[in-house]
Amino acid sequence: MPAPVGIIGGTALSGPHGLDAGRESPVATPYGTPSGPLVRGRWAGREVVFLHRHGPEHRLAPHAINYRANIRALADAGVERIVAASAVGGIGPEMRPGRVVIPDQLIDYTWGRAHSFADEEGPVPHVDFTQPYDPDLRAVLVNAARGLDLDAVTRAVHGVTQGPRLETAAEIDRMDRDGCDIVGMTGMPEAALAREAGLAYACCAVVVNAAAGRGEGAIHAEIERTLAEGMATLGRLLDAVLPDL
Ligand code: HPA
Repeated sequence: MPAPVGIIGGTALSGPHGLDAGRESPVATPYGTPSGPLVRGRWAGREVVFLHRHGPEHRLAPHAINYRANIRALADAGVERIVAASAVGGIGPEMRPGRVVIPDQLIDYTWGRAHSFADEEGPVPHVDFTQPYDPDLRAVLVNAARGLDLDAVTRAVHGVTQGPRLETAAEIDRMDRDGCDIVGMTGMPEAALAREAGLAYACCAVVVNAAAGRGEGAIHAEIERTLAEGMATLGRLLDAVLPDL
């Protein structure tokens, strides 16, 4: 039997919408408890394990998430591949709200998060992170997005900020100069921990607002307007992707 696919939901994917016969199991790990119960079931014919990174009631801020426990719990559940959904701000003009983005690179601006499974003593895992997202898993996402005619952006640099506040306009200008196309708050250390744990990990993001200083109106109003449709689009992408995994 193939290993179940791990799906990490968040602001952009709040529930395991396509999941049948979900069974919830609370788990503990040596790193503490994950954000919520793991929901197991079938989605589009595929066995999946779903975890909401902000917790079932969306109470955990990006810096307060126990990323190590989340990744360890998914690995312990037998997951070998993780598709992580994210709501992001768009930095470049082509990163319009509503657009799906499958990033191929990231820059980590977070700080103070438990970002490695390495203990203070013991072997040091200098994992190769040249390509932070698994190329094969990305390719499946990209093909599914093309098949759906989603007009997805299939290469992008994902800048990950500390939050929970949104960025200043100058911070976004700096990120633009650094080469970032989209900005979110939860992509790291999630991606690096998955790599340390030996799990294939890819991100499918949906732009829900123009980043600070890049849009016309108020950011929160734009997020409210865009989120429901963005979630529905990511749900469709997962419906299409899961049978291929
Ligand atoms: N900045 C950071 N994270 C985000 C944003 C943003 O503008 N929108 C959604 N997540």
